[in-house]
This record gives sequence, C-alpha cells and structure tokens, in this order.
Amino acid sequence: MTRGKFITLEGVDGAGKSSHVDWLAGRLRARGITLVVTREPGGTPLGEKLRDILLADSMHLETETLLMFAARREHLDKLIVPALERGDWVLSDRFSDASFAYQGGGRGLDFARIRVLEAWVQQDLQPDLTLFFDLSVELARQRLSNTSMPPDRFEKEGAPFFERVRKAYQTRAIESGGRIRPIDSSRSMDEIRQELELIIATI
Ligand SMILES: Nc1ncnc2c1ncn2[C@@H]1O[C@H](COP(=O)(O)OP(=O)(O)OP(=O)(O)O)[C@@H](O)[C@H]1O
Ligand SMILES: [Mg+2]
Repeated sequence: MTRGKFITLEGVDGAGKSSHVDWLAGRLRARGITLVVTREPGGTPLGEKLRDILLADSMHLETETLLMFAARREHLDKLIVPALERGDWVLSDRFSDASFAYQGGGRGLDFARIRVLEAWVQQDLQPDLTLFFDLSVELARQRLSNTSMPPDRFEKEGAPFFERVRKAYQTRAIESGGRIRPIDSSRSMDEIRQELELIIATI
C-alpha cells in the first residue's frame, strides 16, 4: 500500500485558504485520489472542542501553544496518520507551520520551544506539500472585513501582529527546501487556481 500524501494550506487570516480547499479536493478526487479534508485546530471531536476554546478564551501563550499541539496530537492519531497509512490523501486547512507563524512569529514564543513540541507530537511526519497563501496584511484584512462572520480571538489582533505572522511564514517558506510553496494571493481566484492546478499536477 502506497502511503497517501499530506498537503496543508497556510497563510494569514483572510489569505484564501478556505476559499480553495474544497476546490482543490475536487480536483484531486477527479484524479481518482481518495482524500480526507480537515482543518486545524480541530479535525476530531476533541480537537473541535479545543478549537472553540482556542478561538474564544484568552490564555497564557504557552497554554495556547500546548493546546494547539494537544489538538494536533489527537488529529494525527485519530485522523491524519490512519488516513495516510490506508493510502488516502489528507488536505488540512492549517497545520504546524501555523504554530510557528502565530505563536512564534505573531506572539513571540521562542521557536526552539515550538520545535520541541513539533518533534514530540509529529516525530518525523511533515506535510509533503504546503500551499502558503501569501497576501499583504492590508488586503487580507480588507477581504475579511467583507465577510459577515464575527472576528475570532486571532482575527481581532492588529496589523502589526499579522505582519509578524506573514513574515514568519515567508521565512519558513524560504528555509523549507521547497516544501512550502508561496502562492501570490493578491490575484483573482481563477489565476490562483490555474497555478494550484500546475502545482498539484507535479505531486
Ligand atoms: N483571490 C481572491 N480575490 C478576492 N477575494 C478573495 C480571494 N480569495 C478569497 N477571497 C475572499 O476573502 C475572504 C477570506 O478568504 P478565506 O475565508 O478563504 O480566507 P482564509 O485564509 O480561510 O481565512 P481564515 O484564516 O480567517 O479562515 C473571503 O470572503 C473570500 O471570499
Ligand atoms: Mg479559513
């Protein structure tokens, strides 16, 4: 049995991850791939409860980081690893790069601490491909302001926070050896999808 591929979508709030995830799933399924679509924090019943807490309640930065990785541990155990082992692909709206970008870049937690949790929870498992939707903070906030959803605890942060988050993603992309593919998300949905089509054709 060939192990499935693990693809993640990343980027600041409002960059366009959720707008493309179902479309991407459809394109992969059209190739005959069996695929699980999921998200973080969340993806399991317990993970979704932790998500509700994480998006609503204020807490110590280390508590926030530990809960993110607790939800991730459950996600890997109950959903991601079993799916990959039976040969299914997994498409996740956010994964560990978000912990480095938000808790590390955005909130200033030492990256070394996050790497400890990453090694603990994931061992050697990394996404095969990460699509990083990269967009200026100004445009991302503009796009979010057009939606009717009330802002969650992260979306309420100011522009300087999101600048740091974006910068952390960009740096990780450069250092990722090609795993993290930046996608210029200032373009139209159609243009972005044309590029996504080319990228997924290569995996
Ligand atoms: N290329 C685009 N051009 C114009 N508007 C877009 C584009 N991509 C997404 N949008 C709009 O921007 C808003 C935010 O997009 P989306 O919800 O996909 O972002 P997200 O990355 O999932 O954000 P979050 O992290 O908050 O979930 C949506 O209203 C969406 O319709
Ligand atoms: Mg989203």
